[in-house]
Amino acid sequence: MSTSLIAANTLRTTEIVQIRTDSPSVKTFAIVDRLCAKAKPGQFLMLWIPGIDEIPLSIMDVNNGVVSVSVKQVGDATRHLHDMAAGQTVGVRGPFGNSFTESRGRVLLVGGGTGTAPLMFLAKQLSAKTERLSFVEGAKTKDELLFIRELNGICNEKSLITTTEDGTYGLQCMVTQPLASLLDKEKFDMIYTCGPEVMVKKIFELTEQRKLPLEASLERLMRCGIGLCGSCVIGKYRVCRDGPVFTAAQLREVQEELGISKLGFDGSRIPF
Ligand SMILES: Cc1cc2nc3c(=O)[nH]c(=O)nc-3n(C[C@H](O)[C@H](O)[C@H](O)COP(=O)(O)OP(=O)(O)OC[C@H]3O[C@@H](n4cnc5c(N)ncnc54)[C@H](O)[C@@H]3O)c2cc1C
Ligand code: FES
Repeated sequence: MSTSLIAANTLRTTEIVQIRTDSPSVKTFAIVDRLCAKAKPGQFLMLWIPGIDEIPLSIMDVNNGVVSVSVKQVGDATRHLHDMAAGQTVGVRGPFGNSFTESRGRVLLVGGGTGTAPLMFLAKQLSAKTERLSFVEGAKTKDELLFIRELNGICNEKSLITTTEDGTYGLQCMVTQPLASLLDKEKFDMIYTCGPEVMVKKIFELTEQRKLPLEASLERLMRCGIGLCGSCVIGKYRVCRDGPVFTAAQLREVQEELGISKLGFDGSRIPF
């Protein structure tokens, strides 16, 4: 293990410095951590909720040493985290994993649900460097669309497309629906995506049909976060160590599993 990975893997305790409510089910937690403050977009950290569990979370922002993660309440650990207050102690390991590459031409980012979080971090870093930045964000309903105000500031209205399944905001459709015509109409040098794996698979198919470059961040069950336990495998890859960001060429190698099933903690296959 490299010395930098040993340092990243050492559990540090820190305080929650700020909590912001982003939607009825998502809160953003800010912590101070010297190592994670050096993270690049796409990397994740392992957050320990004392006495409960340790969970992987994408880094959503780094600003003056303050590191933010946006967390959807889905089960035990995330419910306890949502009940915590500023000033309370959490543990952190990381940053882990690889990061998105920085493309300088015309880029398109496609986010679904909390998959929008790592893309926000990427969008902020790319906005000053790219020729044009377009963003497509989808959610079930208006209240669950994340970071719309910030994204409007980054992309300007014309290059932000929003979709909701119930039609309460933006286009009434799945996030993948407006993509086909957008990809046919405009030229993009790189497409980045993160979200539910079924969505990622659909985007992979759309970009493959058009021979377009893609980088997708994947989620798998994670325990160690450093490539040892094997709980996060997809094909020949360990998502925590070889990803979480994968190129189109790598996704081609794991097509049989992508958007179809993942390993459960007991080793059984869980269909998506
Ligand atoms: C690299 C990565 C980045 C992630 N980034 C975010 C993020 O930015 N925001 C966010 O809200 N969520 C993120 N997740 C998912 C988050 O880790 C899970 O929602 C969380 O672990 C659920 O824990 P729980 O105890 O509340 O729920 P549980 O009741 O334990 O599980 C609910 C569901 O969450 C998933 N899950 C549970 N434990 C884990 C685990 N250790 N690793 C991965 N998934 C798990 C499973 O699909 C499970 O069915 C990320 C996951 C990965 C792998
Ligand atoms: S989480 Fe243990 S190998 Fe990836």
